[in-house]
Amino acid sequence: MTETEVKGAVTLEAPAQSNPLSEGLRQGRVPLPCVVVIFGATGDLTKRKLMPALYALAADGQLPPGFSILGAGRTEQSTDEFRELMRESVKKYGRVALRDDVWSVFADGLRYCSFDLDADDGLKAIRDTLEELDRERGTAGNRIFYFSVPPSAFAPLAERLGAEGLSAQEGGNFARMVVEKPFGHNLESARELNGKLHVAFTEEQIYRIDHYLGKETVQNLLVFRFANGIFEPLWSRQYIDHVQITVAENIGVEGRGGYYEESGALRDIIQNHVMQLMAIVGMEAPSNFRAETVRDEKVKLLRAVRPIHPDDAPLHTVRGQYGPGWIDGEREVGYREEEGVRKDSVRESFVAVKVEIDNWRWAGTPFYLRTGKRLPKRATEIAIQFRRVPHSPFGGNVAMPSGLLPSDSIDPNLLVLRIQPDEGITLRFSAKVPGQSMRIRTVNMDFLYDSAFLKESPEAYERLLLDCMLGDTTLFAREDEVEEAWRFCTAILDGWRAHPPKVDEFPNYEAGTWGPQSARDFMARDGRQWRRL
Ligand code: BG6
Repeated sequence: MTETEVKGAVTLEAPAQSNPLSEGLRQGRVPLPCVVVIFGATGDLTKRKLMPALYALAADGQLPPGFSILGAGRTEQSTDEFRELMRESVKKYGRVALRDDVWSVFADGLRYCSFDLDADDGLKAIRDTLEELDRERGTAGNRIFYFSVPPSAFAPLAERLGAEGLSAQEGGNFARMVVEKPFGHNLESARELNGKLHVAFTEEQIYRIDHYLGKETVQNLLVFRFANGIFEPLWSRQYIDHVQITVAENIGVEGRGGYYEESGALRDIIQNHVMQLMAIVGMEAPSNFRAETVRDEKVKLLRAVRPIHPDDAPLHTVRGQYGPGWIDGEREVGYREEEGVRKDSVRESFVAVKVEIDNWRWAGTPFYLRTGKRLPKRATEIAIQFRRVPHSPFGGNVAMPSGLLPSDSIDPNLLVLRIQPDEGITLRFSAKVPGQSMRIRTVNMDFLYDSAFLKESPEAYERLLLDCMLGDTTLFAREDEVEEAWRFCTAILDGWRAHPPKVDEFPNYEAGTWGPQSARDFMARDGRQWRRL
């Protein structure tokens, strides 16, 4: 039986679709029966993301018959208690409303076991339950081990699964592991971790999650670039002046002060999410959509990124940290007042980086990356700023500040790909203002995901978990991608360590503002400015 021949067990009526754009597109991608073993099943990620995502897949009829989940945690609790907790989580955090009929089928496949990595027989209960599930629910030895555990447990857990034979795939079954970030804290530790995971799992068995790759709009970037003929000829240094990638958040560290003190914005967002976005925007067209082909192209782009010498890090980057301020009428505390944060911390909550890509397509067209917490709003977007027209034939008819040439006063074209919120695409171009004179203003042409497809997008974790069950690694980061991204970021971190900010340099932006003044100066030096989102 192949994966596509399997008919879903939790088959329920799909909501009626009245939009012709999305009709007829439901794909029957149903995986083989399997068990998802969640290590860290009592944690926040399981409650907020994993269980609601798996339930949504069930409600959508995407899961195979016999599909099972084995929650594994250090806490002792019964399967019934676990089921009840998970029911509450799905109700509270789920994208789709909880339905009793769907839940009862789904809950039949839920089990809980405690485990202890330090004990000799600490995985025995898990092994026994997996065997029981194989017998009773026909899961045939197919397993996905989801590592929702602290990073220090990644390697020991993988080694242990290997030693117990649980990573073996000899019987025609599959065994895969999914690992969350942080994947190392610099190049060396990422390499070391890759080495340790490979003792038990081959690269094909490892699924490194970057939830940005599961976002519908990020996948649409690939479609936008490679399923449309009209943009690709313009997609290069010849027509593009520069690219800005922004991940702005209005939230602070949300109770994760301890983690953030170790991480900071560069490790937390740039090394993974933003560099993945950059790779997709900048890569060459893959010859097909197979995982290895797509990932090869992304790696090539990342390899072409010009390394920043540690001594030059202060020149090519800006660091910021928020102080107290106001967001949406609420008073917010500064980073140093957050729980778990040192009072004299110089950890960055904002970062901007200028990236040069040394290849024929991008030489001389910089990518500016920025991310920050406690900015005025949540917005992730990619802005492609085209070059100005070389000459404006409209001359004196164009309203122009003195000293500028007519072509300078016409705003260049801009293509904005909005990842979230208000998912969509905007193209800015010049238009004539109605009237007797030739006055020019910019206008926008807008595509809005919601109104075009009238369909709610699945959550990133739904897509990624399903892909993992199907054995599709396209939207997961491969070993070399992660290492290339770390290579770039580690040099910056080394440079920062050699040139630490003075304690009184931070905070350097107020919560609710667009980052430090130095970030604006940084762009102004290049004769450019950040887009106001
Ligand atoms: C996570 C970071 O990877 O991404 C968080 O650790 C951040 O600090 C989050 O808030 C942002 O994700 P999203 O999907 O809300 O943009």
